[in-house]
Amino acid sequence: MCFLKIRRTFAASNDEIMIRRTDIATVLANSDIGQEVTVMGWVRAFRSNRFSALYDGSSAKTLQIVVDFERFDENLLKKITFHACIGVTGRLQESQGAGQAIEVLADKIELWGATDPEQYPLQPKFQTMEFLREKAHFRMRTNTFSSVFRIRHGIAYAIHKYFHDRGYFYLHAPIITGSDAEGAGEMFRVTTLDLDHLPRTESGEVDFEADFFGKATNLTVSGQLQGEIGALALGKVYTFGPTFRAENSNTTRHLAEFWMIEPEVAFFDIEDNMNLVEDFLKYLIRFVLDNYADDLAFLDQRIADLEKNMKTEDRRPMPLVDTLRFVVDNEFERITYTEAIRLLRDSKEFKKDRFEFTPEWGKDLQAEHERWLVEKHFKKPVIVRNYPAAIKAFYMRINEPGTDGAPGDTVAAMDVLFPGIGEVVGGSQREERHDVLLERVKAFGIPEEELWWYLELRKFGGCPHAGFGLGFERMVLFITGMGNIRDVIPFPRTPQSAEF
Ligand code: 4AD
Ligand code: MG
Repeated sequence: MCFLKIRRTFAASNDEIMIRRTDIATVLANSDIGQEVTVMGWVRAFRSNRFSALYDGSSAKTLQIVVDFERFDENLLKKITFHACIGVTGRLQESQGAGQAIEVLADKIELWGATDPEQYPLQPKFQTMEFLREKAHFRMRTNTFSSVFRIRHGIAYAIHKYFHDRGYFYLHAPIITGSDAEGAGEMFRVTTLDLDHLPRTESGEVDFEADFFGKATNLTVSGQLQGEIGALALGKVYTFGPTFRAENSNTTRHLAEFWMIEPEVAFFDIEDNMNLVEDFLKYLIRFVLDNYADDLAFLDQRIADLEKNMKTEDRRPMPLVDTLRFVVDNEFERITYTEAIRLLRDSKEFKKDRFEFTPEWGKDLQAEHERWLVEKHFKKPVIVRNYPAAIKAFYMRINEPGTDGAPGDTVAAMDVLFPGIGEVVGGSQREERHDVLLERVKAFGIPEEELWWYLELRKFGGCPHAGFGLGFERMVLFITGMGNIRDVIPFPRTPQSAEF
């Protein structure tokens, strides 16, 4: 009786730590018939005034509670409704019913919080994701969202474990910053200025010298530039924090606030970077396969139910767990941008004019192009490297002219493309040559004084280095098989929406 032993040990060693309940996951894993347990949680279902399925977040499974209704007050039983919060003490017994091995025969029932079914916003029936998003304060109690958020936690833990076990240091990049790491101008301004009475300079511009930090600041779009500072001192670092983009993209893959993981490594080139990203992404998937089988099985069933009435071409090519295994067991395809454009232009789709955007050297790959490469052509994750310099960020390392037979300048960039998701990672080798970087900063029209420290990193004790950024929610989206990025973050922030 492992869990009961834990209870006693705690009670004996420290009276203040009183374990009032046992997690349902622990009860289910230690099924000793006849033992008394106290469990607490929320009611998933209550049938015939006799059986209750209790859920407490610790497991994808519920615990069946058997209630001998003659022994309990009728008024109490009436309150055991969908998502009511109760505590139950009773003995474990073998279950006669199908679907579970053990159950608890209730001896005592405590009502913590009733949920009036007439007024409670959720109902025990199918409810759309859009509806549940509006009820984000209750949606985590549903099967689907509790599984998603358990897995989200698991991936976050695995990220720290992966890097820690390999000698990387977790670096906390600032959230408020004066620089635009991506140079894309998609930033949220941070200010304490009175918007109704803005201070102006003589030439009429807003005077940010009068602002809180004495300069214009914004929420960070990426911790990479600070990560580079860390890498050139600690060798191997990673950031893992919230990042913010004021891009007006209302898609199933974009959030205004999302979490990013950005490893940065000294003495790394683009090849090392590709090897790291492939090993890292496979590790995360394997971790979830090994530790969240019940949640994945539930999510797989959910998808099967949703797809029952869909046309074959709209269904997933493989069940979720099979997709994850496939990604772990196969090598990612690695191609150059120049090759990708050639493949796209040789495709039947292009020849039959089925792409909305023309794949053309020098232009960014569109989502439809990425989907074709990943889902139609290679049918597995693809790493595309060496993009045209003109369409990528200022900090990426310029390749030797003519690399890969490209008709123009390329940079040592790499994007990882996943089936159903598209870009999950963007990364690069960094430009470590001071003069080349300075040229790029100027060419991008970035004020030098904004990046003086970044430039100085190249002047004093610099070295080749590389890194990448993994969009955390895109990875959670892939692993859970959910359809919209808003459903894998507890409280999504998107254009026109910042509730909760
Ligand atoms: O490709 P991005 O813009 O790269 C960077 O920010 C680099 N500084 C990373 C680095 O080299 N250290 O963003 C990285 C990843 C994307 O591949 C995508 O997965 C995710 O972040 N991402 C978003 N996820 C959700 N919503 C958005 N609006 C996103 N924008 C980027
Ligand atoms: Mg990118």
